[in-house]
Amino acid sequence: MSVVLSPSLLAADMGYLAQEIQILEENNITALHIDVMDGNFVPNIAFGPDQIKMLRPLTKMKFDTHLMVMNPERYIQTFADAGADLITVHAEACIHLHKTIQMVRSSGKQVGVALNPATPLEVLDYMYDLLDLVLIMTVNPGYGGQKHIVAMQEKIAQLLATKQSGRYGFEIQVDGGINAENIQDVVKAGAHNIVVGSSLFQKGKTRDNVQALAAILEKYNN
Ligand code: DX5
Ligand code: ZN
Repeated sequence: MSVVLSPSLLAADMGYLAQEIQILEENNITALHIDVMDGNFVPNIAFGPDQIKMLRPLTKMKFDTHLMVMNPERYIQTFADAGADLITVHAEACIHLHKTIQMVRSSGKQVGVALNPATPLEVLDYMYDLLDLVLIMTVNPGYGGQKHIVAMQEKIAQLLATKQSGRYGFEIQVDGGINAENIQDVVKAGAHNIVVGSSLFQKGKTRDNVQALAAILEKYNN
């Protein structure tokens, strides 16, 4: 399975967004990771459906929306209508996780579930066959630029073992503190969809950073 990058817009300079998106497209990036924060599930506030709607005409890239929002079932249809292609909810934010997963599926969008560092994989035991993606958080959600929690690599490896033994189709995504130094560690552990924020978007350096990360991943994609 090939390894893909999903750049996190949270780290991008909003004044240069159109140019940054063009750089990503020129370098064969196929997805944008859009972090939605409600100031309740996480302390920070970021991106809402209106911003996603505004971004939608700029690119055909897949919109990977990461909802760090309490009770996200209230907003599934809103994000689907705004242009999300993948809607990832946090297990910790859903009282009825199965029902929320079903809501995303019936909206016609791909569905992902994210797990905070302290949340065990077992919460997904009966959900795996319903999911397009499982997101293993490798920082506590809320902010870009945090330090990667190395202990999560064991969790990624356990998830890969479950995926293989159950022959499940979900992708394994990782998010938090990934950079050129540790990206191979998470790939070797079993992740194949890698969110990168602050190590990728840097004004004037974004192109070089994308190309450097792509060069590291090349050997996994042949
Ligand atoms: C954190 C967000 C991440 C963040 C990643 O809560 O979910 O997507 O933007 O940023 P970096 O790569 O800087 O950790
Ligand atoms: Zn994210």
